[in-house]
Amino acid sequence: MNKIPVILDGDPGHDDAIAWVFAKASPLLDILAVVSVSGNQTIEKTTINARRICALLGIDAPIARGAVRPMTADPFTAGNWHGESGLDGPAMPEPDQELSLLPAVDLMAEVIRESAEPVIIISTGPQTNVGELLTAHPEVKDKIRLISIMGGGITHGNWVPGAEFNILEDPEAAWIEFHSGIPIHMCGLDVTEKAIIRPDDFPRIRAVGNQVADIVAGWLEFFYKYPMAIGYEGAPVHDPCAVLSITHPEIFRIERYYVDIELEGEYTRGATVADFKGVLGKEPNAACSVEIDRDRYVDLLIEALHYYDGREVPIG
Ligand code: RIB
Ligand code: CA
Repeated sequence: MNKIPVILDGDPGHDDAIAWVFAKASPLLDILAVVSVSGNQTIEKTTINARRICALLGIDAPIARGAVRPMTADPFTAGNWHGESGLDGPAMPEPDQELSLLPAVDLMAEVIRESAEPVIIISTGPQTNVGELLTAHPEVKDKIRLISIMGGGITHGNWVPGAEFNILEDPEAAWIEFHSGIPIHMCGLDVTEKAIIRPDDFPRIRAVGNQVADIVAGWLEFFYKYPMAIGYEGAPVHDPCAVLSITHPEIFRIERYYVDIELEGEYTRGATVADFKGVLGKEPNAACSVEIDRDRYVDLLIEALHYYDGREVPIG
């Protein structure tokens, strides 16, 4: 069976990193490229994190530095969730490949053009790289099969009441994406805040007994600190939903809506507004995941971690 060609686009970020653990472990996916974006931390930090994650997991696809800042908005970071490095916690290996000489949008366009099959972009940070790709290289749009994102929320926000971090960081990029005509799988907070990994799951993760599982457990123990302090029962591990939406859609309940991006408003800028009743008369542009089988989610993480049995890379 032909693998699905994908591009991983993220701002690692603990949950981006765990999303990439799933992606590399999946027999369904062929990772063509990895691109970083500023978001959880600055572009320099998310880029070195991306390179180190790829070295840890054995992702040998080209890696390119993405957008330094949103298309028009001023950037902000999430050190409270991800720490000063953007991936605080366990020590990581040094990169094992040089950074691509191409900027992210040019590497994305190149691998899309060269792919025999249409490509899926799995984007788990601000949508800046996608917005810039569709602006700079509109000719590749027809070879993008769909875009699977962690972003938004059709019922609530997180960074501000009405908007989720990734979309709020770059609403203009998200607007371009949601108006592109490319099908979107949207894993917003409606589902990702139910993708909770709880402290009582952590020993089961460590019990997998390989280097990647130990590091994932360490990431979760760090990543859980902030949400625990603000009342979460565990770590909302948002980003893997965007991968599992492709590899295991059966674990989600999905509703299709026309979704638009609010660019104005003191309290509404960055909101992903779903037309629940179809009053706008527009065709749905997004398959919105709204529920997840959480126990199956954790089982799939354990299964993915066993893919790395026997893998050990030098650290420190
Ligand atoms: O709002 C959660 C999202 O913002 C996740 O993708 C997290 O990694 C941050 O990018
Ligand atoms: Ca992210």
